[in-house]
Amino acid sequence: MQAVILVGGEGTRLRPLTSTLPKPVVSLVDRPMMVYMLEWLRGHGIDDVIMSCGFKATKVREVLGDGSQLGIRLRFVEEPDPRGTAGALKFAEEFLDGRFLMLNGDVLTDIDLGAQIAQHDKAGAAATLALVPVLDPSSYGLVKLREDGAVEEFLEKPPADSVLDSSLISAGAYVLERSVLDLIAPDRNVSIEREVWPALIDQGLFGFVDDAAYWIDVGTPQRYLQATFDILEGKLRTGVADKLGDGYLDVDPSAEVAGRAVPPAIVGARSRIADGAHVGSLAVVGEDVIVGESSIVERAVVLHGARIGESCVLRDCIVGPGACIGDRSQVIGGAMLGEGVVIGSDNVVARGARLFPGMEVPDGGLAF
Ligand code: GDD
Ligand code: MG
Repeated sequence: MQAVILVGGEGTRLRPLTSTLPKPVVSLVDRPMMVYMLEWLRGHGIDDVIMSCGFKATKVREVLGDGSQLGIRLRFVEEPDPRGTAGALKFAEEFLDGRFLMLNGDVLTDIDLGAQIAQHDKAGAAATLALVPVLDPSSYGLVKLREDGAVEEFLEKPPADSVLDSSLISAGAYVLERSVLDLIAPDRNVSIEREVWPALIDQGLFGFVDDAAYWIDVGTPQRYLQATFDILEGKLRTGVADKLGDGYLDVDPSAEVAGRAVPPAIVGARSRIADGAHVGSLAVVGEDVIVGESSIVERAVVLHGARIGESCVLRDCIVGPGACIGDRSQVIGGAMLGEGVVIGSDNVVARGARLFPGMEVPDGGLAF
């Protein structure tokens, strides 16, 4: 079976991580975010994938290649202009044979696709949306089902005062019959959520509820960190969980840990954790990172090539590739440093501050 993955969004909410790299190839724990999705699809026997790229497609192609390493045939389609979620699908039409899956490329999940396809078959559906329950549906597509599993109502980004009595949202994984493509006008921007699903109500639109699945949309810094922690804690089955094993710790053999690594944590190749420093719990230290003496990295992500001085505190933060942090500085409270950002000594970066690539902060220049 084939799958189309939509990855054409700009990932603006994840800036500055996505300022220099498209979201699908931003590193999540130890591999590009998209690799989790491809591993999940492969696990369900899907080995022919079309990536619908809008933005920086070349970089995505460069990182993921032809998919052969993952046992998948991977092809890339680039829209001439942003076509929206349905327009992008229509643009990929010539690659599609029969029934296929469509996926939003920014979710991390282990939804049971086999069961979803089986239910789709049994119901004779035109489209089956995977659904998961969430506490706050306001940033998703809210769905109300009838008893037979048919969709009664679909409301994209419901306003706070909406009265739709349901907590089920569309998880961004769809089984589609080829006939759905006929509903989409070619060569223009069309939203599948706002134009296609509503038109399919009572015309074969069904929902498949997977209560037991892990699911997260990795669209914001907070959710990126949550996804990181959940992968480290093995809340869903991933290649990372296999690598971490029962000890929930993976220190690359070429890394040097003079201080401590507290599980769950991962320390990448050639990184050095100096004396008295500790990383973890819930820490990702990428490749070629230096963590100076007596520094703490906890509930945090430090991407490859970053250099952390002595006696620093990094907590609840994301430090981009190659960033430099001077001695005694603190990066805390959801702060995010873009690629190559340089912070002098004795700074405090907190309260969700985002520093973009190219920024340099002098010694003692920031305290907020
Ligand atoms: N090729 C292409 N072209 N892809 C696009 C385009 C486009 O014009 N616009 C968005 N995408 C991709 C994004 O990269 C993302 O992977 C996916 O389509 C969904 O877009 P988002 O921008 O992330 O949408 P959302 O998260 O606000 O809402 C969607 O996902 C929710 C689940 O995470 C909707 O499908 C909701 O109904 C759903 O609940
Ligand atoms: Mg999204």
